[in-house]
Amino acid sequence: MAALEHITGEGNSTVPRHIAIILDGNGRWAKKRGLPRTAGHAAGAETFRRIATYCKNIGVNYLTVYAFSTENWSRPEEEVKSIMKLLDRYLREAIATMERDHIRMKILGDVSILSPSLRAEIEETNRISSRYEGFQANICLNYGGRAEILQAAKRYARDLVEGKASADLTEDGFSSYLYSAGIPDPELLIRPGGEKRISNFLLWQCAYSEFYFTDVLWPDFTPEELDRAIAEFSRRDRRFGGVKNG
Ligand code: IPE
Ligand code: IPE
Ligand code: MG
Repeated sequence: MAALEHITGEGNSTVPRHIAIILDGNGRWAKKRGLPRTAGHAAGAETFRRIATYCKNIGVNYLTVYAFSTENWSRPEEEVKSIMKLLDRYLREAIATMERDHIRMKILGDVSILSPSLRAEIEETNRISSRYEGFQANICLNYGGRAEILQAAKRYARDLVEGKASADLTEDGFSSYLYSAGIPDPELLIRPGGEKRISNFLLWQCAYSEFYFTDVLWPDFTPEELDRAIAEFSRRDRRFGGVKNG
């Protein structure tokens, strides 16, 4: 597909339409520098800004990042509070620039328990996003893959009982109940920070994603590192259960 071919720093690579990233390693980045974990989260937010811009420039259509999981509430209250404050600031700043840069942004997760100011910002980003087409950044917030599938099952069951859905449920039909409704599955999932696990991220959507793990801590992640991930992705043989051609 010509529209998906782009020159990255690693030569002529196929740029995935949708890249997902688990933003991990902020705490260790800070610790290495003798800084509080919060400083790592602040640095991580800057890295997200840089990488999102880079993705937009090389023709990625969707960038989905894992920013706060349903499990992250178990962290010390101070850390949770500071992450929420950072997200609040980040969204406020993003709202100010989305119109200028024509960026779409979607928050995926159970936002109902977030603070009123965060929820107001999320509504505003949705409102602005509906005016544009093109690059979309998805931020997973109070997101859990299992929680996402469970709420989809509950909503489908309700629709079925109310006669709004057919009993003949398909995979596509079920996908439309997920937070990610309408967004194609990620072709490439990147996890920086050295861990090799999925940590409850996009369990349904990553059924056939290519995984790329790196020890680089998220705040140190660069466009060159993204190029490396894309180059590696381009070399993978995606068979989807079939057999290799030739
Ligand atoms: C990722 O960095 C950010 C969140 C999960 C909110 P971490 O805070 O998990 O950083 P490490 O894994 O402790 O280094
Ligand atoms: C995954 O990172 C969640 C986010 C990046 C939001 P964690 O640091 O929470 O994951 P674990 O604890 O290493 O599995
Ligand atoms: Mg971590």
